[in-house]
Amino acid sequence: MNDKPILSVRNLTMHYYTRKGDVSAVDDVSFDLARGQSLGLVGESGCGKTSVAFSLLRLLPENAQLLAGNVYLDGCDVLALDEKEVRKIRWRGISMVFQAAMNALDPVYRVGDQIIEALQTHFRGLSEAEARDRVIELFPMVGLDPSLMERYPHEFSGGMRQRAVIAMALSCDPRVIIADEPTTALDVIVQDRILNELRAIQRKMGMSMIYITHDIAVIAEVSDRIGVMYAGRMAELASAVDIFENPFHPYTHALMNAFPSIEGEKQELKALPGEPPDLLSPPSGCRFHPRCSRKIESCNRLQPPFEDMGDDHFVACWNPREVGNG
Ligand SMILES: Nc1ncnc2c1ncn2[C@@H]1O[C@H](COP(=O)(O)OP(=O)(O)O)[C@@H](O)[C@H]1O
Ligand SMILES: [Mg+2]
Repeated sequence: MNDKPILSVRNLTMHYYTRKGDVSAVDDVSFDLARGQSLGLVGESGCGKTSVAFSLLRLLPENAQLLAGNVYLDGCDVLALDEKEVRKIRWRGISMVFQAAMNALDPVYRVGDQIIEALQTHFRGLSEAEARDRVIELFPMVGLDPSLMERYPHEFSGGMRQRAVIAMALSCDPRVIIADEPTTALDVIVQDRILNELRAIQRKMGMSMIYITHDIAVIAEVSDRIGVMYAGRMAELASAVDIFENPFHPYTHALMNAFPSIEGEKQELKALPGEPPDLLSPPSGCRFHPRCSRKIESCNRLQPPFEDMGDDHFVACWNPREVGNG
């Protein structure tokens, strides 16, 4: 049994160049993903979650630049590979269900053919018949009848389209799958069902998973560990149980209060006041300090280090405190 993490991200730092200046979208982000484990990445919109995912896959737009850090997939530094080597890792090493991908299926092709084509692109020499067999195998795994391969995207419901997109991401048998807000556009019941199925597939296939969402209530059930991102940085990283029962970071606490639980229990929904900062000119010191109810003198001057509080529970805060136990 190899217990080295399948994915190890260290000090990842990425900017976007724009006419207005540099956008500091990912700043000094570090985390590990253990084999067979599921990591939830959560934070409000604009906190850099998708940017982290694209950096891991090296699928960055022209104006993005990786400034620092390492991404080790099974010990191999993805950021040091040339473009040809990166292509081998994409989809087979790390695959991704893109945000809003369910709406990006080409309307003029049958759903099955689109997945077959994706497979053949990534496995040179794979015959169409072999690719088709693979899709026939995959469809039932994501809850779709194989006969649906012959249908067009408009004949699919939202949930069915999302299942097809998940099948596409699974088709290359990746070691790591990243699901970026895969269920946000769906109603809560379908969302819950697809999430649980995705979790079951991940376990069955022994894959590791990074699950990205802005809704902390959604990831509780599907994550072993949770990373809370704020304004391009990792604010807190711990086991899902510790994040919910013992959150140290005031932002984690605020996020939990801002979303109702997925079961739809009646509870007060406290809005999180303010908005995440513009990353063209992020706040000095701790980027959360302008919104923080617990700030102390050092917060607006110095960036808090990302420290292990024990039990693999990391937090970047000058005034961490256990809340939720009282
Ligand atoms: N192509 C781009 N060019 C410039 N800025 C970008 C680009 N893509 C994203 N950003 C900015 O990077 C920051 C992080 O965005 P993103 O990674 O999409 O966050 P999230 O996925 O958490 O919503 C935001 O401030 C966003 O406006
Ligand atoms: Mg995003």
